[in-house]
Amino acid sequence: MAEEIIIVQGNGTLEGEVAVSGAKNSALKLMAASLLGQGETVIHNVPRISDIDIMGEVLACLGARVERSGHTLAVDTAQVARCETPYELVSKMRASIAVLGPLIGRFGQARVAMPGGCQIGARKIDMHLVGLEALGVHFDVDHGFLEATTPKGLHGANVTLEFPSVGATENLLMAAVVAEGRTLVENAAREPEIEDLARMLSAMGARVQGAGTSTIEVEGVPLSSLHPCEHTTVGDRIEAGTFLAGGALMGGPVTARGIDPAFLRMALMKLEAMGCNVDAGDDWVTVGRTRPLDPIDIQTLPHPGFPTDLQAQFMLLAARAEGNSVITENVFENRFMFAAELGRMGADITIEGHHALVRGVPRLQGAPVSATDLRAGAAIVLAGISAEGETRVHHIEHIDRGYEDYVGKLVALGADVRRAPADALPSR
Ligand code: EPZ
Repeated sequence: MAEEIIIVQGNGTLEGEVAVSGAKNSALKLMAASLLGQGETVIHNVPRISDIDIMGEVLACLGARVERSGHTLAVDTAQVARCETPYELVSKMRASIAVLGPLIGRFGQARVAMPGGCQIGARKIDMHLVGLEALGVHFDVDHGFLEATTPKGLHGANVTLEFPSVGATENLLMAAVVAEGRTLVENAAREPEIEDLARMLSAMGARVQGAGTSTIEVEGVPLSSLHPCEHTTVGDRIEAGTFLAGGALMGGPVTARGIDPAFLRMALMKLEAMGCNVDAGDDWVTVGRTRPLDPIDIQTLPHPGFPTDLQAQFMLLAARAEGNSVITENVFENRFMFAAELGRMGADITIEGHHALVRGVPRLQGAPVSATDLRAGAAIVLAGISAEGETRVHHIEHIDRGYEDYVGKLVALGADVRRAPADALPSR
């Protein structure tokens, strides 16, 4: 199939209400956790994105039956008998490593292809392994595969993470719930998606306290006492933040519905500091702007710090602000590629190690650009809406990994955006 691109006409509009999909970075782990309940788990509010499809393939490869009906997934793991994931799938989506903990919990062993790095960094898993070893897991590396065994079974332990890694916290949780005895995870990740996973594990019969804080306590229960459940995925705070950044960029107002505003506290504080009007209710947030954007300094940090997944979107806002901003990326070692793409549209950004100095410019020009990762891709489309002239975004497969119907949602907000073959003629 010819490459598909997104064509954006500039000087656009973004105004109105958008329904936020379920959180990609929760749903993927909820699907993995279903391996611990040996029957049919039903997960609602699952976004229709390619990463979910790949996780479905991983589970099917293990012997599960995964059926989608709208935004609901039924994952029946009763017949799962294999505990090996193929390189082909893991290399397509590193988040497949989320099956490591539940496979060890269910089978006492696992053979999982080592995930590679990606555009934004090496994406190591050393903290996953150190934490699981504390629970009694032994790892060997065999030709690119992790061979996990539990010679003396899984037992509780006190684990302090070197860094509040989201993935490591999740893998530890999904093994600790069936480990013999009590596990304490210190310096745990506090992302809302961790709380969502803990809620589902508890609904399956696990005993988890403290999710969402830096200290999580787990009382292990027998695997046989865990059962399938029905669970609704929390709203995607990064998708919501992306559309709200669009409202800040274009003036809006844009309302993101289906999201807990508490998930976005730091991002909303930064939008207010940049001069935006922010309003919120129980499950919605509205962002608009009637005055020029002020510059801002941002440090990306683990939750509740500023989310690295909104860094590109806010770099775009800083690129259009009246003054100089500094953005520091503390979570990933290579997450400034977006700056080069935005520079091709006229942004004035200087990278110094983990710091980006962004000098605001009065306008951006449409140009042929590429999505360098999922979030940068979403942000470069927003840049095209604010630019003068036409922007053609290549490598949009990155966007399709994590945004359900991104083009459709932007069109519903008034943007002139469409998917087209890469060789489509200029629009006018
Ligand atoms: C999750 O990745 C998200 N992905 C990422 O979202 C998100 O950016 C990240 O958390 C931080 O919030 C999913 O949930 C599928 P980490 P994860 O373990 O779990 C280093 C998106 O756009 N590290 O908290 O991989 C790691 O290299 C994606 O939706 C180790 O060194 O994040 C990174 O620099 C992008 N050793 C940092 O820690 C380890 O064992 C944060 O990683 C684990 C992590």
